[in-house]
Amino acid sequence: MQNNNIWSHRWTFILAAVGSAVGLGNLWKFPYITGEYGGGAFVLVYLITIFLIGVPVFMAEAMLGRKSRKSPVDGVTKLARENGASPLWGSVGIMGAFTGVLILSFYSVIAGWAIHYFVRFASGALVGIDADAAGAELGALFASAGSLTIYHTIFMLATMLIIGLGVHKGLERGVNVLLPLLFVMLFVVAIYAAMNGDFAAAASFLFTFDLSKLSLEGWLAALGHAFFTLSLGMGSIFVYGSYMSSESSLAKTAVTVALLDTAVALVAGLAIFSLIFGNGLEASQGPGLLFVSLPLAFAEMPGSAFFGAFFMLLVLFAALSSSISILEPIVAFFVSRGRSRVLTTLVCGAGVWLVGMLTVLSFNHWAGFTPLYDWTLFDIFDKLTSKVTLPLGGVMLSLFAAWVLTKDALVAQIPNATVRQIWVLLARFVAPLGVTFVMLTALNVPQLWALVAAIAFVGAVSVLQLIASGRRRDSQV
Ligand code: PHE
Repeated sequence: MQNNNIWSHRWTFILAAVGSAVGLGNLWKFPYITGEYGGGAFVLVYLITIFLIGVPVFMAEAMLGRKSRKSPVDGVTKLARENGASPLWGSVGIMGAFTGVLILSFYSVIAGWAIHYFVRFASGALVGIDADAAGAELGALFASAGSLTIYHTIFMLATMLIIGLGVHKGLERGVNVLLPLLFVMLFVVAIYAAMNGDFAAAASFLFTFDLSKLSLEGWLAALGHAFFTLSLGMGSIFVYGSYMSSESSLAKTAVTVALLDTAVALVAGLAIFSLIFGNGLEASQGPGLLFVSLPLAFAEMPGSAFFGAFFMLLVLFAALSSSISILEPIVAFFVSRGRSRVLTTLVCGAGVWLVGMLTVLSFNHWAGFTPLYDWTLFDIFDKLTSKVTLPLGGVMLSLFAAWVLTKDALVAQIPNATVRQIWVLLARFVAPLGVTFVMLTALNVPQLWALVAAIAFVGAVSVLQLIASGRRRDSQV
């Protein structure tokens, strides 16, 4: 391909988007929050959100990227200008950049745990480990700010290396190699787990839908996780979309990514809970679920060092193909302003690394520092992004695409009339109302309320400006 900024092959966008979507969210976070919120009902809300809200928001984000061919901040601002809307809409991109810094900062630390476990499995140190020793292993890792820092640094450097190399050499080669490998590895581990664990118990835990068991907070967690797992609301899909060819179908792409992402989460969940229940372990043990239970579950099984290391490698590959998509929107912003890609990557990476140190310290020296409720800095970053800024960012992008773009633009982006009408309905009404409803019912936390009110105010001002600017736009779709 001539154009340096378009993916070399049409399917590379799908691969890259799946690489971004499938990550620690599927392998580490989905199982542990499903365990915490009680299983089936949580999974049901998550699945509904993915397909009713996630898919249309995904289409909106990719569409805006593809139409503007710019990074999120500039792209939204440019489209707003062209359509006579307020340039304040660009603030969605700025919120996305901050969200990206926060997510990558803790994402890298957690991925670092996988480096530790990879090394420990491979060296045979975890063979025959018992429950106490497995807990102590994670406890010792958490207590060592030094080790956490080293692993966090290694992971950030790997992410920066790929981003520094740029779209063709770095991103494409990265996803082309990492993704197929990831699927093969997950398949092997899942078969292994189903044969050796309690598959029936895992299936009934994940698929017994009893909505009365789900707390309001669980609803919001499931909704927020749908955004997190599809990489929505902060610009990753936007920036990948800006490299997407004009011919590929948005709807097919979005549905493919959502299906693959969901399949990976469910297969990972089945594998992990088969091992957990097969070994009589607790489902609701928090962020440590993957890292305490798997070594324990593997311990009594033949070939544990190999399978354990294999699985951790899988986690790492998945994390890397996601972390690059978190850094890229931020780097793309500066590169489009003529800055050097390598230098920008170094500066942004160093900044994210520094913020990541707050998460490192949240697990040891600053574990008692809980500025809000009993939340450490890590908890705050995690909750603020998944439960607040990602859903808000996603909804604003969806509103922007569906209300501000002209009918002609939408026809060019989604040529099929039926698909377009369904999308307009979902993107204009279902996604925004669904997210607002769940947020308002679930957030009985005063500080978060204040934040939501502030952001809603900015949103309302933008909408008023948009209406007041009296642009010519055909709203009939
Ligand atoms: N979707 C990724 C995962 O599930 C995380 C991510 C969030 C990536 C937001 C990009 C943007 O691990």
